[in-house]
Amino acid sequence: MSGEIRVGIVGVGNCASSLVQGVSHYRRARGNEPVPGLMHPEVGGYRIADIRVASAFDIGVGKVGRDVAEAIGAPPNNTHRFADPPATGVIVKRGPTLDGLGHFLRDAIQESAAPPVDVAAELAASRTEVLVSYLPVGSQKATEFYAEQALAAGCAFVNCIPVFIASDPAWRRRFEARGLPLIGDDVKSQVGATIVHRVLTNLFGERGVRLDRTYQLNFGGNADFLNMLERDRLDSKKVSKTRAVTSQLAVPLDADAVHIGPADHVPWLTDRKIAHIRMEGTGFGGLPLTLELKLEVWDSPNSAGVVVDAIRCAKLALDRGVGGALSGPCGYLMKSPPTQFTDDEARRRIDRFVASGE
Ligand SMILES: NC(=O)c1ccc[n+]([C@@H]2O[C@H](COP(=O)([O-])OP(=O)(O)OC[C@H]3O[C@@H](n4cnc5c(N)ncnc54)[C@H](O)[C@@H]3O)[C@@H](O)[C@H]2O)c1
Repeated sequence: MSGEIRVGIVGVGNCASSLVQGVSHYRRARGNEPVPGLMHPEVGGYRIADIRVASAFDIGVGKVGRDVAEAIGAPPNNTHRFADPPATGVIVKRGPTLDGLGHFLRDAIQESAAPPVDVAAELAASRTEVLVSYLPVGSQKATEFYAEQALAAGCAFVNCIPVFIASDPAWRRRFEARGLPLIGDDVKSQVGATIVHRVLTNLFGERGVRLDRTYQLNFGGNADFLNMLERDRLDSKKVSKTRAVTSQLAVPLDADAVHIGPADHVPWLTDRKIAHIRMEGTGFGGLPLTLELKLEVWDSPNSAGVVVDAIRCAKLALDRGVGGALSGPCGYLMKSPPTQFTDDEARRRIDRFVASGE
């Protein structure tokens, strides 16, 4: 299979910046040449170079009305610039704000005075095939709004944020009924705190160590961490991150023995994120075993390659006329898929999906 993949972006923040930069940076990567940050150079014949930005939506005054290539440089975006994409010819359109801006983001993002556009009409006119949502954490209504627009315009939907769409049976049924692919929820980074914590949880289990208590504390200096200072917006994020780890345990842990979530915002870290993980277990003879680790990453580029895979899986499903949540891709690429697998099993399933569509 080959051809272009027309992608719409909701939320032109740091993650969108990394995605747009990556598509430009790796445009010349050929065939099976390994691309750092991509788990699969090719997915069903599609390469990163096949991705075209077809539409984009935001609400910020620094982004609406600008070419996407320019908008990705507007504050509060502060991720690393590793590429300087040329103008895309795609102007960021004003979406409705709904619950997109929380208490802290209202100070950091000035809303555009432009009226919201008809998003479904814009998706149709731009021939967007796959709509990717990068809304801020806590955007329940806005996520539902854009999922509706994808359904109305006939787009696949990739939900990178912890609002439950692919993991909600009612939304899944609606995408299935429309024959539209759905991948979500809450993107799992390439090597981020979630996958490291999951793999170590499985290691404890496989080696017979009982996990007694664990925490994962994350902090960073981007707008995502600023927004997450508002604890009321965090419910689904905490559920998503916690379940991603506890789903790997054969014997459930007491809720008070697990603490996973964002801890603070440190502005000078910009888009760097630091995760501290501690695992306390019991080994042979009832003796204690403790593991501590610190992981430091650039947050947004760390998930961009995963989203490139999600976009290509969604496009493959569109080509094959497959609708509804794609179990293997969701399991491998997302923290809160409809069904949790171990990462080994999820990798087998995504590879099977790419090879045969199952
Ligand atoms: N590794 C990662 O970076 C990672 C991993 C998992 C999940 N996520 C999630 O991805 C999402 C995006 O992250 P980010 O770092 O790009 O965030 P960001 O804050 O940099 O960008 C969010 C963008 O959404 C825009 N926005 C707000 N309301 C909107 C609306 N109603 N319509 C259109 N646009 C709107 C904002 O103006 C901003 O440009 C967050 O929810 C984050 O938690 C990121």
